[in-house]
Amino acid sequence: MSQQTTKKTAKLTIGDRELELPLIEGSEGELAIDITSLRALTGVITYDPGFANTASCLSRITFLDGEKGILRYAGYPIEQLAQQSTFLEVSRLLIHQELPSQQELRDFEAEIERHTMLHEDLKRFFGSLPKAGHPMAICAATAGALSTFYQDVKFDDPAEQRWSAAVRLLAKMPTIAAYSFKHSKGQPFMYPRNELNYCENILHMMFSTPCEPYEPDPVVAKALDLLLILHADHEQNCSTSTVRTVGSSQANLFASVSAGISALWGQRHGGANQKVIEMLISILEGKRTAKEFMKLAKKKDSKVRLMGFGHRVYKNHDPRARILKKACDDVLERLGTRNPLLDIAKELEEIALEDDYFVERKLYPNVDFYSGIIYQALDIPIGMFTVFFALGRLPGWISQWLEFNRDPTNRITRPRQVYTGSTERDYVPVSQR
Ligand code: SDX
Repeated sequence: MSQQTTKKTAKLTIGDRELELPLIEGSEGELAIDITSLRALTGVITYDPGFANTASCLSRITFLDGEKGILRYAGYPIEQLAQQSTFLEVSRLLIHQELPSQQELRDFEAEIERHTMLHEDLKRFFGSLPKAGHPMAICAATAGALSTFYQDVKFDDPAEQRWSAAVRLLAKMPTIAAYSFKHSKGQPFMYPRNELNYCENILHMMFSTPCEPYEPDPVVAKALDLLLILHADHEQNCSTSTVRTVGSSQANLFASVSAGISALWGQRHGGANQKVIEMLISILEGKRTAKEFMKLAKKKDSKVRLMGFGHRVYKNHDPRARILKKACDDVLERLGTRNPLLDIAKELEEIALEDDYFVERKLYPNVDFYSGIIYQALDIPIGMFTVFFALGRLPGWISQWLEFNRDPTNRITRPRQVYTGSTERDYVPVSQR
């Protein structure tokens, strides 16, 4: 991957040594100090827990500006894609970083349709898992198990085989997600219906049963498509960095995405969308008022956080949260339903945006704050919210893994550390301790 290096350099003084390090400039003007030779030149390393100040890669896929609240997939603003695109078109855009022609999109949709079914033996895999198991655990396990059915899939496959692994994942993950839900309900699995579009098929596999006709509501399918578009990629977030890291050992795509699903599950990350709704329900049920909750969320030792608020990168409004907040009103109105949790969410946001604690720390609603309101309107159960985040993020994980894979300079991820443990000492036999 070509580096946009500049003539500019950064001067670093360590002890009596001064060195100049090259500066890399991204296509949006962001600057990075290239420290690839730092240790070799100085014996010194950098320390950046959580990598808040560290770029792990050069990437052409997604651009975020956290100060301005900008999100673009391959240069296209999320607001325009949310309005005008579809999830499958966005998926192909992320993988190729170019919008497909009509024919290319039709071909891609047809490829996806042909791979929506799971191997019959894989269906039995679900039966061995407890019905009460969290669907994120089931989806992570099943995504990894795909490697047992497609044993030929390898990191260094030729491009067309890597493409077919990507198509299989995009096509089969909705089936896996729906089967994890059906398994939890003790209901029969519903085979995909390939005459339906991607989101209609998800709704069919989730909610239809063999005993009565079911036609997915196009309003619900469109709202789901919007949710998936908004979650599709987000540069080097925790789960995407996980997918890249696992891929960097040259593990295959299925194994890498399985790890990404596990990383997403955590409540600091994708698991927050489930926690937001549980938080709103606890307020609705009167366990504490919104004001009481906000007081707790500001107390460090309370362990309570305002879930769905704050972000490592966005120090302004998350553009996805803005779109989702508006979509809540639209979807609820079009479905003719109301959700008291939305009123509580808006009340919490109003309180936070006027409270110094949140304002000083630049804590704003993130993608998880309003998404659950819409999932609920679509009858998606709370336990499946993070699974739907994973369905949305799948093309992002795939595109980032493929970008890493194609980069001829790619290396295994292996950070250093600063050792703070005991210095050398002699072993003491247990009889003398
Ligand atoms: C996602 O990275 C991505 O791009 C992620 C994502 C994606 O699309 O992939 O956008 C999706 O994961 C969104 C985030 C979902 N998580 C939550 O909503 C959980 C609640 N938020 C936080 O736990 C937190 O804000 C993080 C994890 C999102 C960010 O953590 P950081 O960047 O490490 O920030 P921090 O924990 O150091 O917080 C800085 C300060 C601290 O206070 P002080 O030590 O300065 O006194 O802000 C406080 C924190 O206590 N703080 C919060 C808070 N979030 C941060 N206080 C109350 N409630 C919160 N939600």
